[in-house]
Amino acid sequence: MNIVNARLRGREGLFHIALDGSRIAAISAQPAAVIAPEGDLDAASNLVVPPFVEPHIHLDATLTAGEPAWNMSGTLFEGIERWAERKALVTHEDTKTRARKTIDMLVDHGIQHVRTHVDVTDPSLAALKAMVEVREETRHLIDLQIVAFPQEGIESYANGRALMEQAVALGADVVGGIPHFENTRDQGVSSIKFLMDLAERTGCLVDVHCDETDDPQSRFLEVLAEEARVRGMGERVTASHTVAMGSYDNAYCSKLFRLLKMSKINFVSCPTESIHLQGRFDSYPKRRGLTRVAEIDRAGMNICFGQDSIVDPWYPLGNGNILRILEAGLHICHMLGYSDLQRSLDLITDNSARTLHLGERYGLEVGRPANLLILSAPDDYEMIRTQGYALVSLRNGEVLMRRTPASVQRG
Ligand code: FE2
Repeated sequence: MNIVNARLRGREGLFHIALDGSRIAAISAQPAAVIAPEGDLDAASNLVVPPFVEPHIHLDATLTAGEPAWNMSGTLFEGIERWAERKALVTHEDTKTRARKTIDMLVDHGIQHVRTHVDVTDPSLAALKAMVEVREETRHLIDLQIVAFPQEGIESYANGRALMEQAVALGADVVGGIPHFENTRDQGVSSIKFLMDLAERTGCLVDVHCDETDDPQSRFLEVLAEEARVRGMGERVTASHTVAMGSYDNAYCSKLFRLLKMSKINFVSCPTESIHLQGRFDSYPKRRGLTRVAEIDRAGMNICFGQDSIVDPWYPLGNGNILRILEAGLHICHMLGYSDLQRSLDLITDNSARTLHLGERYGLEVGRPANLLILSAPDDYEMIRTQGYALVSLRNGEVLMRRTPASVQRG
């Protein structure tokens, strides 16, 4: 199968993409639009891009909102309390069923690479064991990275360190953390040292829920970045959320940025989740409760967007569509300027792939896997303006999803 009449980001003209089974065999410029031969896919002068990436979601918690109780305050901390109640009811099959349903939602929207955090503050590690099975059973749909995520803390939870080590031994790909939730500042710092040691020893990647609070005194990002810098692990390390940075004063932040750049760590922002959960202790003026997305990007650091939740105790909405998150994020982060719109898809494709450390498993290059999307618009700007979507998702050269757009009749 080949794709004809494709537009590629950052390049003029139309392209022919030849596939050789599950690999991209050639990408060549077309002198003009052509009629697609039988069996080929016609991109119709629209963008062809590598698959969308979901760099931050909690597949073990999705589709549980209201079970057994709703988060009435809308705060992160009530979300953690409500989840602790739901967690008592988690079974192996329950986790797998909800995760599979959610993965189908992601696939329907062109996502083929997913990093999920899985709560390991559970002596039975039931959700982690279930997700390891889901990772194998959905390989034809997505590449799944599992983060050992200590929702109730590493130091503040009974046997927290041992549970993290067990989760890695059972197959977690990434070591997580939640230093701002630990009972004390000292515990937050020691949790970061512990999780970085664990990752260094086992070769795991790192993705820490870091400073997910409006408290401007929550400053664990500097600890994580310094640990990454000293160990030379920065490109393998991600700081998720870092929303306290939205409340740091500029003098501290300018010093912090020097360290962040030297550390080479990645950032994930979840704009819909953060605009919903943060700012809850403010009256007016009310903070947006997001990290400094545009400033991190302008400084040449790597940042991407994630969904975080779909219908769980922290966020009641969501349908798997990462383009919805991108549009909201661009609005919330003051990124609707002309140049930001020209390259907005970076935030859900290339930047996210770098965060997940996908390397040569990702991208439209000869020899790489034939994983790609045909979109409904010719460039990034029009994808946002028209609220576009993925029309076709191809994985290993096979059609995974094909969308028939709605049509409108006038008069
Ligand atoms: Fe999260």
